[in-house]
Amino acid sequence: MIYPIVIYGNPVLAKPAKNLEKDYPGLENLVNDMFSTLTKADGVGLAAPQIGLPLNLFVVDLSPLEEDDPSFKDYKKVFINAEIISYGEETDSYDEGCLSLPGISESVKRPTSITIRYFDEKWQEHEETISGFPARAIQHEYDHTRGHVFVDRINPVRRQMISSKLAALKKGKIKCRYKYAR
Ligand code: NI
Repeated sequence: MIYPIVIYGNPVLAKPAKNLEKDYPGLENLVNDMFSTLTKADGVGLAAPQIGLPLNLFVVDLSPLEEDDPSFKDYKKVFINAEIISYGEETDSYDEGCLSLPGISESVKRPTSITIRYFDEKWQEHEETISGFPARAIQHEYDHTRGHVFVDRINPVRRQMISSKLAALKKGKIKCRYKYAR
């Protein structure tokens, strides 16, 4: 099924998510539905809070960016109970958007590499150091599981400049092609 995507202003996006138990019911279906929802909305990452579930779970699908980088062709990953255990020292800035904040795109400064520990959908544990665009996408989704969205990380002047756009989203003035929920 395709879930409606929760829009900025809903409290589920602002609170830390809970870890999943290994017997979490219907996990396989949930993960499949998250990928379908993500594809339908033309996104590259989706976290469980964005479909209203306060769970430490997110999916990343970089396959739509295959033209930019052939190695993204099969890049579909599930991150359960993820924990970023260290950040690289180098940072860069890049324009980010979010399915929960339609119409907003802002430059966000982030470390260019991370070391992350997580379980995949088969409950295999992984610890990986990831860099480049995947590291950025993962940090963005990880933030959702910690109750943060990307506009929490932009510079205060820019934040002030988009405050009316953010207020409009909170009031329900939302323009997007995909199914959404407030
Ligand atoms: Ni997002």
